[in-house]
Amino acid sequence: MSIVCKDLVKIYKTGKVEVVALRGLYLTVEEGEIRAIVGPSGSGKTTLLNIIGGVDRPSAGKVIVDGIDLTTLTDAQLVEYRRKRVGFVFQFFNLVPNLTAMENVELPMAIAGVPRSQRHKRAMELLALVGLEDRAHHKPDELSGGEQQRVAIAAALANDPPIILADEPTGELDTKTSRQVAQLFKQLNGELGKTIIIVTHDLAIATIAHKISRIEDGVIVSTVTPAELEAVGYPAGEKLEEKIRRLEERRTAIEEEMKKLEADYKAGKIASDDFVKRYAELKSALDRVEEEIKRYTLV
Ligand SMILES: Nc1ncnc2c1ncn2[C@@H]1O[C@H](COP(=O)(O)OP(=O)(O)O)[C@@H](O)[C@H]1O
Ligand SMILES: [Mg+2]
Repeated sequence: MSIVCKDLVKIYKTGKVEVVALRGLYLTVEEGEIRAIVGPSGSGKTTLLNIIGGVDRPSAGKVIVDGIDLTTLTDAQLVEYRRKRVGFVFQFFNLVPNLTAMENVELPMAIAGVPRSQRHKRAMELLALVGLEDRAHHKPDELSGGEQQRVAIAAALANDPPIILADEPTGELDTKTSRQVAQLFKQLNGELGKTIIIVTHDLAIATIAHKISRIEDGVIVSTVTPAELEAVGYPAGEKLEEKIRRLEERRTAIEEEMKKLEADYKAGKIASDDFVKRYAELKSALDRVEEEIKRYTLV
């Protein structure tokens, strides 16, 4: 579904104080596109997603989704739009702690009135899609961050919405897990044709996007492709994948060497002075690799 924002304005009023979060924003996302939105904190990214997702209404301007202007919908119609058309993914996973992975995926379906037997079947299919069928009966605190985010993505897909909106979905994940989540978004787009908007600081995500828009102070100031981003100095596409993969291999190798060193030390095979010296060397190499991996971050 295509998404068009025209001259979007959002003013928050708290008491007498007004905050202009969006000030005449234009954005066009094609059907079947992945669009990354980058920009500094407070620039209006979350506000924009909330308005596109029908969680909030703009103060002025239009949001046209698949030809329908959301600002003309009644509150009830907007709720309907949000439940059926949009899947949300958040930074902090937003799972219900005392429900299992499967129950979390079933929840949006239960709210939409899907019968129990159908819910079970679809929840299992979705968990399989995100590679977690063997974790169906685990609760969120028994899952890793990456697994929790995959469950959250499965839950966002529960009612088969054509649009996925994700707000810093890899903000809490390490680089390796972030890349797995990025690949999952790519798969949802490629195989299921979802239109996806992802607010992100993470270059691994930005480079799976078809286009990257930068928002500053409530307006989109630039839109580029990953290749154009590469031209201005950020490595993109396969090259970036390759680069990060090599760095991660290096990180794993260092970590393994550190483990072996510790084992040797515990077994009395090396003296403590040698251990401390070598360990410090490895630790500083590890820090450098981590730094370099982090440098592939946009803002
Ligand atoms: N509910 C709210 N009430 C008042 N001000 C808000 C509210 N939500 C966001 N803002 C303000 O609007 C601006 C944009 O916020 P936000 O969209 O959350 O930015 P971002 O997601 O890019 O960090 C900020 O100045 C923020 O303080
Ligand atoms: Mg935000």
